[in-house]
Amino acid sequence: MEQDKFKPEIDWRDLFKKPIKLFGYSYFYFLASLIALGLLYIWNLNTIGKNAVPPALLKDSTAFIQDIPLQSPRLIPPVNIMRAGVSSTESVNKGRELYKNNCAACHGENGMGDGISASMLNPKPRNFHSLEGWKNGSKVVQIYKTLQEGIPGGSMASYSYLPPLDRFSLIHFIRTFSNNQPKDSPDDLKQLDAAYELSKGMNVTGQIPIKKAIAITMKESKVQAVEIEQAKKMFKESSIEGAIILRRATNDETKVLTTLLQNKKSLASLNELIKVVTADPLHAGFRASVSNLSANEWSEMYGFVLTLMKKESR
Ligand code: HEC
Repeated sequence: MEQDKFKPEIDWRDLFKKPIKLFGYSYFYFLASLIALGLLYIWNLNTIGKNAVPPALLKDSTAFIQDIPLQSPRLIPPVNIMRAGVSSTESVNKGRELYKNNCAACHGENGMGDGISASMLNPKPRNFHSLEGWKNGSKVVQIYKTLQEGIPGGSMASYSYLPPLDRFSLIHFIRTFSNNQPKDSPDDLKQLDAAYELSKGMNVTGQIPIKKAIAITMKESKVQAVEIEQAKKMFKESSIEGAIILRRATNDETKVLTTLLQNKKSLASLNELIKVVTADPLHAGFRASVSNLSANEWSEMYGFVLTLMKKESR
């Protein structure tokens, strides 16, 4: 009888008859989720807006690893630090151009740290208008260090491949975004010069992007593999005297053919072949007995090696 008195909060049978009542019960939840959705939308407005912009530089900032750029060997002339370290209209103008191409994507056209890729980066690119919280600092010499070494742990890469004078131009330009920049003392500049030997000039060795280097090496080794396979066929099948002698002198077919193909260019005379083979016969894939070949046998073998190489060098 106690149970009869108990009236459930929701009368399901009643609700089933008049489903509209359900709205009354769920009204609060409905409202709450609506507000939550609204807030979520507002919070993400920035990202949503940014997503409408076609992806520029970066698709995924965590995957952003800058490869070294293609660079031919060159001599970098000595830098006069007392001149380069001081701002001039000329250097600022040059820096403005360089900035557009190299820095604006992250730091923003106007140096606010709001470039097109900025929203995807953590930590965020520096806003050059503020002098607070710089990691290396905003003196000329400090920014030089940043450009030389990059800032570890983020997407501020090293720009050491830019010629020193270009880096000074960039520095003078980005320092124009803020007044009250700290001044470099002559000693600061001298120390920078000493640290990076700027007044000595540099011999920069050429470099190619790692990705490209890998692609080239892979292509070369593939060509080699194909070449060796083709040479093998001839090596096995040819019945001329030279081929027979070569086969008899061979311990490891692949090694022999690799040795010959690798030295293709230097095998211009019989003497060269003898040198290449007898320098280290076992390592080159030959039997030790190769050194017992007669002059005639060598010359027969050389004849065959030439046809083998000629066929392959086409
Ligand atoms: C891929 C994005 C990206 C590009 C391109 C880029 N930067 Fe940065 N830069 C950053 C980020 C991110 C930081 C903040 C790093 C940190 O605080 O750890 C930063 C920080 C800096 C700082 C402040 C260092 C400090 O002391 O705190 C300087 C100066 C700077 N960048 C200069 C440049 C210049 C000049 C260029 C162009 C040559 C450039 N950056 C290009 C992302 C970039």
